[in-house]
Amino acid sequence: MSYIESVLHENRSFPPNDEFQERANVSGLDAYHALCARAEADYEQHWAALARENIAWHQPFTRILDESNAPFYRWFDDGVLNVSYNCIDRHLPTRAAQTALIFEADDGAVTRLTYQQLHDEVCAFANGLKALKVRRGDRVIIYMPMGPQAIVAMQACARIGAIHSVVFGGFSAKSLCERIIDAQARIVVTADGGLRGGKTIPLKAAVDEAIALAGTDAIDRVIVYQRANAPVAWQEGRDIWWHDCVHGMSTSCEPEWMNAEDPLFILYTSGSTGTPKGVQHSSAGYLLGAMLSMHWVFDAKADTDVFWCTADVGWITGHTYVAYGPLAMGMTQVIFEGIPTYPDAGRFWRMIQNHRVTTFYTAPTAIRSLMKAGVDLPTQYDLSSLRLLGTVGEPINPQAWMWFYQTVGHARCPIVDTWWQTETGAHMIAPLPGAIATKPGSCTRPLPGILTDIVDELGTALTSDQGGYLVIKRPFPSLLRTLWNDPERFKRVYFPAQLGGTTYLTGDSAHRDEEGYYWIMGRIDDVLNVSGHRLGTMEIESALAAHPLVAEAAVVGKPHDIKGEAIVAFVVLKGACPEGESAGEVAAVLRAWIAQQIGAIAKPDDFRFGDNLPKTRSGKIMRRLLRSLACGAAIEQDISTLENPAVLAQLKSTA
Ligand code: PRX
Repeated sequence: MSYIESVLHENRSFPPNDEFQERANVSGLDAYHALCARAEADYEQHWAALARENIAWHQPFTRILDESNAPFYRWFDDGVLNVSYNCIDRHLPTRAAQTALIFEADDGAVTRLTYQQLHDEVCAFANGLKALKVRRGDRVIIYMPMGPQAIVAMQACARIGAIHSVVFGGFSAKSLCERIIDAQARIVVTADGGLRGGKTIPLKAAVDEAIALAGTDAIDRVIVYQRANAPVAWQEGRDIWWHDCVHGMSTSCEPEWMNAEDPLFILYTSGSTGTPKGVQHSSAGYLLGAMLSMHWVFDAKADTDVFWCTADVGWITGHTYVAYGPLAMGMTQVIFEGIPTYPDAGRFWRMIQNHRVTTFYTAPTAIRSLMKAGVDLPTQYDLSSLRLLGTVGEPINPQAWMWFYQTVGHARCPIVDTWWQTETGAHMIAPLPGAIATKPGSCTRPLPGILTDIVDELGTALTSDQGGYLVIKRPFPSLLRTLWNDPERFKRVYFPAQLGGTTYLTGDSAHRDEEGYYWIMGRIDDVLNVSGHRLGTMEIESALAAHPLVAEAAVVGKPHDIKGEAIVAFVVLKGACPEGESAGEVAAVLRAWIAQQIGAIAKPDDFRFGDNLPKTRSGKIMRRLLRSLACGAAIEQDISTLENPAVLAQLKSTA
């Protein structure tokens, strides 16, 4: 038995080493339990004390939690603050000359921005936005490549009280258009193009197309950062270069003083039904979640850490652990424009070495693909600066965990497997690394004050080690406040009546072992997790059904070695069922269509064509059966109610 196998076999746990524990922000299991006990003894005071200690308030709050209009909870709602002030200005007396951002471009060029420089850039851009008549409460779409300007744009919005909605640069023009319309945004901030892996990704062209789809008067202004020297079409009077927008602008800008509950941003994410949901976050509660998790889970040390979260700002991870959290803590962080495999698979390890990264946070998908690209590659680099590793977005398989732990972390760095969601704003279940021993594949225990539980469909708590719905029993500050434009959906999806209407339903299932450790099992709804990205099966199905060739489509996930989950599409065409080469051709057409309708991340891996989909006699698609077919498993379900068993043979083969 190999070492790794023996560890997995023994279900071993990994306590922090003495050196780490000694210096940790929360040191030892007793300290963790004491924090949890304080939260349980006086829930509101626990949060109030933390909010007072961590946030720089312009006017302190006197009210803590307002539950009168549950589940529309309000926290600290007579407090006044500005999030950008908390991320930048408050550090200037002590950290003006400290590096805030180390930016490594796709081509390897490195630029640095101190806190003072970041302040000046944010203020100039904030003043530029104001000159374009962007006001408090207006929505601003940010569709930018990874880089300092994306962070400057987000911080500038926060500074003037505008609500940003960042759209990941990999989403299509059509997806961008839907978000522009739903958010009723009048301004888009973009770039001519992005650079990734030596290729230029056109962004301005997608914005033009999105506005054409949304209706030409949908948007007043498009601000374009010149990044890639990509050719762009120009609409006078609407389009303005970033450098012209900030030209001559003052580098000071008084922050707009916001109410604690004023929305900071909207971020769209996939659900099991319908169009993507606009998750709306608050100012103070969100900031508090970002700061506490930086302190507790990332053991943040502003004076000595170099923090690197590899996520793009288009996702929640890039909001909380790139654009807000590390800055609010006064840290130095690395941001990266490119991809892990360009110019070669040593890129991440070389960057850790060159920038002396101490804390490295990435997705299991990236770990698995880099492990495949070179099991021993990390050993060629000096990774001795690392002290803490983290993962996010999807379950990590124990093999990948062990490799990350040994080969990257030299069995010295704790791994924090962080479970959370776009909706929770910050980590919910994750180890406090100086206090909680880790186990490969488990996100361990909830953060102090996060009252998680596992229940059945009626809300009854389940006893140890029975799998069930993962829920959070009390509201907490960083939880989403509502869905933009859709409060009814917010209530229905997250606070269902059968759980009593005040328990937050996460959408995940989990079980808990005898030590109280949580193990995430997967989604309870039709949401897929592909490379740590959330996609709704129905979104992909509707996009497929909108293609003129398609009569009907159903989409399911199947396990995938690297991506966690792969997308399999079962399609019935309007014409005859294609075979052989023509099936391959239709699949290629539909793949390109999905990239255009949603984005490349939603392209199905496999297509299966048939004359029909397996349905019950009442016409319901048998999804469990499709899942078995997708992964080539033997069919164990009862198919006696199946209307058309003959299609099963057809749907087995991949186009
Ligand atoms: O299913 C869980 C999975 O990702 C979902 C949330 O996706 P999203 O809102 O896009 O946020 C991703 C980044 C926080 C969850 O419902 N998930 C997230 N982290 C983990 C995870 N599954 C297992 N382990 C995790 N650490």
